[in-house]
Amino acid sequence: MPVPGPGYSITVRVEAPSSASAAGDLTSAVGRVGGVLTAFDVVESHADSIVVDISANVLSANHAEDITQALDALPGVRVRKVSDRTFLIHLGGKLEVNPKVALRNRDDLSRAYTPGVARVCQAIAANPEDARRLTIKRNTVAVVTDGSAVLGLGNIGPAAALPVMEGKAALFKKFADVDAWPVCLDTQDTEEIIRTVKALAPVYAGINLEDIAAPRCFEIEARLREQLDIPVFHDDQHGTAIVVVAALRNALRVVGKRLEDCKVVVSGVGAAGSAIIRLLQRKGPGDVVAADIDGIVHSGRDNLDDNLRWVAEHTNKHNVSGTLHEALVGADVFIGVSAPNLFGAEQVATMADDAVVFALANPDPEIDPLEAQKHAAVVATGRSDYPNQINNVLAFPGVFRGLLDAQARHIDDAMLLAAADAIADVVDGDRLNASFIVPSVFDPAVSSAVAGAVKAAAQREA
Ligand SMILES: NC(=O)c1ccc[n+]([C@@H]2O[C@H](COP(=O)([O-])OP(=O)(O)OC[C@H]3O[C@@H](n4cnc5c(N)ncnc54)[C@H](O)[C@@H]3O)[C@@H](O)[C@H]2O)c1
Repeated sequence: MPVPGPGYSITVRVEAPSSASAAGDLTSAVGRVGGVLTAFDVVESHADSIVVDISANVLSANHAEDITQALDALPGVRVRKVSDRTFLIHLGGKLEVNPKVALRNRDDLSRAYTPGVARVCQAIAANPEDARRLTIKRNTVAVVTDGSAVLGLGNIGPAAALPVMEGKAALFKKFADVDAWPVCLDTQDTEEIIRTVKALAPVYAGINLEDIAAPRCFEIEARLREQLDIPVFHDDQHGTAIVVVAALRNALRVVGKRLEDCKVVVSGVGAAGSAIIRLLQRKGPGDVVAADIDGIVHSGRDNLDDNLRWVAEHTNKHNVSGTLHEALVGADVFIGVSAPNLFGAEQVATMADDAVVFALANPDPEIDPLEAQKHAAVVATGRSDYPNQINNVLAFPGVFRGLLDAQARHIDDAMLLAAADAIADVVDGDRLNASFIVPSVFDPAVSSAVAGAVKAAAQREA
């Protein structure tokens, strides 16, 4: 049964009688129709009436309407206005640009802008590397999308993707002091995206690709990595892979198994699944069996594209075919980045003892986590309302902080694995248990640990 959360919250402004029972009547009306009251603020008070802002978490637009009607139906109460608090925080966008230099007088202007700035331009023309020393390039990342795979919403286009990209940029700043800026491109043509990102790259010290659909995202990332002298990271692939590998390391510590002895089943071989498999392969798992909407990926399957062919060639030691349910029999680990409700507790019962289940399809996982818990020893999801949330925020801010600090020109698996180990290590032995395999996203130790590990890995290679 879904519970109202802060993602959909409203504030209802009402006029009510100033009687002793008014507050109780109003709050009971909200509770009666299932709203979760979060605030009750009197904004005006008169001898015979009060004006109150009632804030509540709700489930949907219809639920908000039910609450409004329940309040309006109370004797002497009149609803003046209903505000959606989520929309309120997006009004006018979530980012702004602030100059770092004072511009108080002609003197300041002459140095920050013309004529003084010309000498700085000439210095960079003579030595392009100086751009990292003398411009915003040093600390700036482009958050690039074509709007083709936004959250679980699908292909909603670049303008509709902007609130997500703004949020991402805000997270970069909050968690790692990285100045990130949304770049929402009005094209879904692979060549045009590559050309455009290449053309705007001089301003940035890193490119974070975001919500670009598979399989296009694979080619865009690979070609940009070849052509640019700054790191290119696709968060839906590599951010997810880092956190999954970190969480898996700790989950296996909890159950006392070694990865090299484990059979790992990965459901979903799109952006997230293929990156997880590639990073996991670096850690030498016993075996990985991947499955997608057409069943287990094996070398004899028809119509394998480049991505699936790579997966078929590098996984599935015994070249088995069949269904996800068949793959699960005897598996030590399940990692789902695919679709909701693919199996139940009875399939988890067929897995090995002390099974680990990461059901990450959002918002509805491959298996209800409460069902999974019946037979699995460790369960993780992508959701914030269950323990063990696999959240990319644990990785991408610190990864870019480390890359920028090292002035890295590329990113590779060694850096991704260093980030994964850093996240896993934040959970020390005293705190590790089946409900705590990854740290909280608000743990201030995470971003700096990841940044330090990535910087060291980048410097080792440089
Ligand atoms: N941190 C997280 O929790 C996290 C991170 C990344 C992705 N995800 C979730 O993982 C899912 C996949 O994301 P993506 O970006 O890789 O998507 P994608 O579209 O690139 O790939 C989806 C994959 O799932 C497979 N699939 C679809 N329906 C299936 C079914 N009924 N049975 C088996 N396989 C099926 C597809 O064949 C494909 O391989 C989404 O729900 C996403 O929200 C969660």
